[in-house]
Amino acid sequence: MRRWKMGLLAMVLAFSLTACAAENNGEPAADQSISQEAEVTTDEAQESTDAIGDAEETEEAKESTSQETSSAEEEAPVLTETFQSLLGKHGIKAGTCLSDYMITNKTCVNIITTQFNSITFENHLKPDAILDLQESKAKGDIVVKFNATTEKLLKWCKDNGMAMRGHTLVWYSQTPNWIFYEDFDTKKSLVSRDVMLARMDSYINQVFTLLEEKGYLESFYAYDVVNEAWMEDGSKRDCLWLKTIGEDYLWYAFYYADKYAPDYIDLYYNDYNEQFKTETLYNFVQTLKDEEGNYLIDGVGFQAHLYTEDDLNTYFNTVERLGSLGLKVNLTELDVCLGTWQNIKPATEENLKAQGQYYYNLINGLLQRVDEGKVKMDSLTFWGFVDNLSWRKERNPLLYNKFYKPKYAFYGAMQMKEYAGFDE
Ligand code: GLA
Repeated sequence: MRRWKMGLLAMVLAFSLTACAAENNGEPAADQSISQEAEVTTDEAQESTDAIGDAEETEEAKESTSQETSSAEEEAPVLTETFQSLLGKHGIKAGTCLSDYMITNKTCVNIITTQFNSITFENHLKPDAILDLQESKAKGDIVVKFNATTEKLLKWCKDNGMAMRGHTLVWYSQTPNWIFYEDFDTKKSLVSRDVMLARMDSYINQVFTLLEEKGYLESFYAYDVVNEAWMEDGSKRDCLWLKTIGEDYLWYAFYYADKYAPDYIDLYYNDYNEQFKTETLYNFVQTLKDEEGNYLIDGVGFQAHLYTEDDLNTYFNTVERLGSLGLKVNLTELDVCLGTWQNIKPATEENLKAQGQYYYNLINGLLQRVDEGKVKMDSLTFWGFVDNLSWRKERNPLLYNKFYKPKYAFYGAMQMKEYAGFDE
């Protein structure tokens, strides 16, 4: 954005934020929250302050961190890139998860449509969102049905030209128990292996068929077929898929997905703590082959729920190890909390700077490895963008603070090193 536009924007914001301060019982209004490259109109600026009001209580505004207040006087750096343009140069789509709330908030919509070109639904394609108990009972077969929110989000993504990562088909969590029981009744017995395999086949078939019938299938380029099936000790997670079908349930999930998904949709195994499951994942994916030895899987999704004190070399080793198989690696749910998982650190200036550095070093190292051909990566998805809408919001893991102001994390991820919290 040119300097004079920044000045104009600052005046518009100063005006609307003064008005906001008056409404906020004399509390200082949220700082200049919108330093997006995107043009911001007076209306949008006002809506941003409205969104602040929606999302946060005045009390919380009082607790703003030093970065939120101190940099308010500083002029926001000029952005020459968006995440989509930056990552696009390396053949990578820039993604975010999407919730129902986000598409009702103009500031979110502005950020999403400017910065990102790939979407993963935070919840609305998970098994518990798309499997219908009443219809399954009535039909005597498992029935997939999209509810109004899923339909609305699918339409929004299509209207906005978003590429889609489907998330997720087979998972131990957010999956209704009734799918595993006789007559879809949890008071009865678990079904036999053959019945559960038939249900898995039907379920996966219906997901792709329904997306095609509704005109959305072509938006999808990747699908998480299985989520979180492995433990850190190398054992399979105990779950009802394993209990009903048996040890080979993972192979069957990929077999059916490969059978029904069109070739242009890459099929993924997705997991967290990937850097502690490296050999397990490395060995596992090589079992996912058909009778002719062809892979049923196309890539491994690294959730990348990280911490600023997680060792990056360990992480890059995992990326290279899985990359060496020739399969793709996607970062699917990236967020970086402060500290370690046992010792969460507060959002002090110092810790937020460490987060900015971490995002810079992580993405820099990934892009280098992509450019060197050490890993095939065509998608990098953040698990949201603004802290207060994150599943780990009390840990401040994302790119914008609760006032929608870019953090050091934003500039770090954007590879703007001088604004990413490094010492001068
Ligand atoms: C896991 C899942 C995601 C999401 C997060 C928490 O990482 O894969 O879909 O549920 O947990 O938000």
